[in-house]
Amino acid sequence: MSNLADYISGNAPRFLEELKDWLRIASVSTDGAHQPEIEQAAEWLKARLLAAGVQHAELIRTAGNPMVFGEHVVDPAAPTVLIYGHYDVQPEDPVELWTSPAFQPTERDGRLYARGTIDDKGQVFMHVKALETRLASGAGMPVNVKFLIEGEEEIGSENLADFLAQNREKLSCDAVLISDTAMLSKEIPAVTAGLRGIAYAELEVRGPGKDLHSGHYGGAVVNPTMALSAIIAALKDADGRITVPGFYDSVRDMTDKEKQDTALVPFDEEEFRAEVGAPALNGETGYSSLERTWYRPALDVNGIWGGFIGSGSKTVLPAVATAKMSFRLVPDQDPDDVLDAFERHVHALAPEGVEVEVRRFHGGIPWVADPGSPVFQAADAALERAFGTAPVYVRDGGSIPIVPLFETTLDAPAVLVGFSLPGSNLHAPDEWLDLEVYQKGIGALADLYGEIGERGV
Ligand code: BES
Ligand code: ZN
Repeated sequence: MSNLADYISGNAPRFLEELKDWLRIASVSTDGAHQPEIEQAAEWLKARLLAAGVQHAELIRTAGNPMVFGEHVVDPAAPTVLIYGHYDVQPEDPVELWTSPAFQPTERDGRLYARGTIDDKGQVFMHVKALETRLASGAGMPVNVKFLIEGEEEIGSENLADFLAQNREKLSCDAVLISDTAMLSKEIPAVTAGLRGIAYAELEVRGPGKDLHSGHYGGAVVNPTMALSAIIAALKDADGRITVPGFYDSVRDMTDKEKQDTALVPFDEEEFRAEVGAPALNGETGYSSLERTWYRPALDVNGIWGGFIGSGSKTVLPAVATAKMSFRLVPDQDPDDVLDAFERHVHALAPEGVEVEVRRFHGGIPWVADPGSPVFQAADAALERAFGTAPVYVRDGGSIPIVPLFETTLDAPAVLVGFSLPGSNLHAPDEWLDLEVYQKGIGALADLYGEIGERGV
């Protein structure tokens, strides 16, 4: 371990400068306006993989954004670990809320601020540097590794699903290792053993055939923005439960054991409230915040617009109003079934005088780990050595839709070891990576490859 640690501390400034180069490339996948940067970010990673000593790396073309594949085989009889992550990032908006520009990585107070620092370029690069560390320090790689780093995670990984099914042999492995999740705190590492699924849709409400003068017509014509608001307001009841008929039918109730385990997680409601900055926390009656985000489904409006939103006032009765909405799902909910029921429900809720349309985006099923494989013990040992505390097994309310497909398609367990800290502003302005965690995490991953080599899979 110590020659690994020496190599990492000796090269820490360079490890950081290299990551900054990658972060300057605005590889936003959500709007199609950043194709050159997507391409550039993929090429950049391929070059860094080769520089780290990987025997083979290539860009794989898909119907969408390219995937970066790398492979390092030391012994066909040794275990093979597939490392998955993503180089695409969320948009920077609202741009005016960033303290320093989203694509100009800036160090402040022991943190690196930029879009993608933690989700997920920083975490992917920790694996690249962990591999470099083993190879360059002379420790060697005790396992074979494959890298599969995609460019469409933030838009639902739709092309990756097909690619998996068609490339079982190329991707065959004994375990899938993913760093795209969170720690509990700087001192307490975590293994994420469950993720929520997702179902995303846009709801459009159309009324009059054109925008109208709100004085001449107001009161006689249904206003789509108000109809949309009424529909949205009716989607939850006073107990914070989602009113879509049948929505909870396939939701698995928490077991007593899950309730006990969750209560033992070092988590403070007041700290959580302060971190989100809201005056109070609220949600489904009868559950704690952790239970609500880990074990219960949710519905959120991600964006809503219609009518006049410029400065000053304009008296208008708009023709159209729209909202983007996402359900977070738990076992055994299915995204298609949920959106079918949602669509029926919003049609039933729409007042006379408007038409509603549901446009479906991506979806993904929920996932729960089966932590039986020795790879989990390897992760426990490596994380404990790096951070001084054994990891807590957590769930997370976020989604990585491809995770359950990895397990079923490749018949290998997914092990989620992530390094974002509470409040690191994923998908928001001022996203950051803790620099100490960056360095310790590289050490933990370099060590983890060793542990897997020793313990097998
Ligand atoms: N890394 C996140 C998911 C995540 C974050 C899991 C923190 C656990 C802890 C991932 O990149 C992400 O944001 N996924 C999207 C998926 C969606 C766009 C299909 C999500 O959860 O919104
Ligand atoms: Zn994300």
